[in-house]
Formats: sequence, structure tokens, C-alpha cells
Amino acid sequence: MTAEGAPDRVARIDTAAVRANVRLLRSLAGTPELMAVVKADGYGHGMVTVARAALEGGATWLGVADPAEALALRRAGVAAPVLAWLLDEDADFGPAAAADVDLGVSTAAQLERIAATAPGAAVQLKVETGLSRNGLAPEDWDSAFRRAADLEREGRIRVRGILSHLANTSDDEDAAAESRFADAVRRLRDAGIEPRLRHLASTAAAIGREQSAFTMVRIGIGLYGLSPYDDGDHARLGLTPVMTLESRVAAVRAVPAGAGVSYGSTWRAPAPTTLALVPVGYADGIPRAASNRAEVLVGGRRAPVRGRIAMDQFVVEVGDGVAVGDPVVVFGDPATGAPSAADWARWADTIGYEIVTRIGPRVARRPE
Ligand SMILES: Cc1ncc(COP(=O)(O)O)c(C=O)c1O
Repeated sequence: MTAEGAPDRVARIDTAAVRANVRLLRSLAGTPELMAVVKADGYGHGMVTVARAALEGGATWLGVADPAEALALRRAGVAAPVLAWLLDEDADFGPAAAADVDLGVSTAAQLERIAATAPGAAVQLKVETGLSRNGLAPEDWDSAFRRAADLEREGRIRVRGILSHLANTSDDEDAAAESRFADAVRRLRDAGIEPRLRHLASTAAAIGREQSAFTMVRIGIGLYGLSPYDDGDHARLGLTPVMTLESRVAAVRAVPAGAGVSYGSTWRAPAPTTLALVPVGYADGIPRAASNRAEVLVGGRRAPVRGRIAMDQFVVEVGDGVAVGDPVVVFGDPATGAPSAADWARWADTIGYEIVTRIGPRVARRPE
């Protein structure tokens, strides 16, 4: 129980694991620079905590989606180079530029807007190579690159880099994206700009595709010790999971055969048994889709989820000897016997990224 009387809901954040994951990925990628991607509150782990640990582990850049996230890093006193790549075309980019935040430019209009509202800002040009999300379209590259070169000569922007993002679809499609990216770099040089930073790979390609490395890799999920691949096997890659989600048993109840459990009684006890209540639910990011499938660790033993996961709580079936207050590990490092975030992803038919990123604000992050 917390001081205010709320149940314990804690995400322990292993900062030594962040440092170790960064060191490993940096040596695997072999690039001069490594960007730690800490957007979305550090994939749910706590942005500032992860940023600091990643920098200690050897990251040289930080990456976020929104300029507001970059400014939050600055307010927390993080002075390392930061790139924000998801921009609003109508924004005033003055505050970001004043805070020395690099802006990832995806349209000609953004380029103009930055030159107008944030003279002298550092930009990195984001090019579309096969994901069909943001990024300058290939037919606009030459004109946008020439315009960027003009603006740079006039001292209105500084072009520090060029980037794109892979779809991780197949070997062939990723290879095609790599050659499109190499073409974009050539055309930028033809326009008179030598981009110091050239980056394409996120975790999957940083591990698996040497040709994607260029001068920097952008590491998100690997930082957090989870696998970018469908098998969810972080251990095969040498990564260490960073988040352990813990709670405590809030109630224990013996039920007779036939007792229905949770909304809709989607599970009924086939025989007399003992149930324990775990006080985290879908408001805390526990996926309801894992109802009747997931398991947790209660007092060191696996206990299956019975019935539907609700907003604040779910029910597990336990053996004898479980008492109110006993520790529950919802997920963590499977080396400890706990389920992993990847297990929960399988049970909920999603990816480990979503499991950790959706952990909600009622869960206290406890860096260790
Ligand atoms: C542009 C960009 N780069 C890098 C990453 C990090 O990807 P990953 O978490 O797979 O390493 C992301 C994450 O979504 C991204 O949007």
C-alpha cells in the first residue's frame, strides 16, 4: 500500500540494463554515433531516466518525436544533442531552436517555416524511402535539397543530417530502401550539402543489417531490452529487459466449483479453488485482450489470469499459501521466472513495444 492508500503499482527501471544494452548495441552497429530513442516517455519507462542512463552507456544523441518532448528533456537539464522528427507545419520553432534542438524536416513547407520562425536552427532532412509516412517524397528531393542549400548559404538554417526509417518488411524491400537512401545522400551532396549525420537503421537493422548503418543508428526498443523481431527473444540478442512491472495481492478468496470470475463470467471455477486479486488493470496498460491467457508470478510461482482483465484489477488462480500483500510480478526479465513483456504481447496479439509504452500514469516508475 502506498502512503495515500492506493495499491502498489510499480515499474522498476533497471538503469544498469539500459547502459549495458546501449554498450552492446553500439558495438554491434559499429557506427560513430548512436541515438537513443526516448520518445513516448522513454517507451513508458520514464524519458529522463532512460536518456541519462543511455548517455552514460555511450549514446551520443537522443531522439524524440515531438519538439515538446525535446524541450522537456532540456527542462530536466539534459544537454545532449536531441533530434525531434514529427513536426507541426504551423508551429513556431523558435523555442526548439533556442534550446538547441535539431528539427527533422519532412516537407518543403516545414523547411520554410523553420527558416521563418527559427533562424539559424539546425535541421536534419527526413526522406521517404518506403514507409509512406512522413519524409520528403523522392520527386521533391532535388528542389528541397537546393532550397535547403540556399537557406544554409543565407545562414537561415544549418543542415546537420539526413535520415529515413525502414519498414522492416523483408530483406529485399529493406535493401531497396537502403539504396533509395544512398541515392538521397548523393543528391543532397550534388545540391552542395555534406550531411555529417546519415541515419536509417533502428534496432532491427542496427543488429541485422550492416548495410543500413551509415554514420548513426537510432535505437529504441533494444535500449529497453526487448527484441524488435517477432520471436520476442531478447536473450538471443544479449539484451536485458529494463522494466519489471510489480504489484501486490490485494485480496484472496476461496471459491466453490462453478463460481464465475470477473465481468461476463468468461471463466468459471471447474473445482473449488483460490483466487487472488491483482490491483492493476487496463487503465494501467494491462491489455484486456490477454484475459484468460496471461500469467503472472505470485510469490515466486506462475498463476494464470482467470476471467476478464478489468480497468483497475484482474484475478489470478493461485495455490495455497498466498496472502494479501504477497508480491506479484506482472512481467519482467524471464530469467527470474516472470513472464516477459514479449509473453504479454503474444497473449494480447500485439508487440512488446505496445506493452511497455502503454503502462499508465498510476504506475510509479522506480529507477534503480
Ligand atoms: C524515426 C524512428 N527512428 C527510430 C525509431 C526506433 O525504432 P526501434 O524502437 O524499433 O529501435 C523509431 C520508433 O518508432 C522511429 O519512429
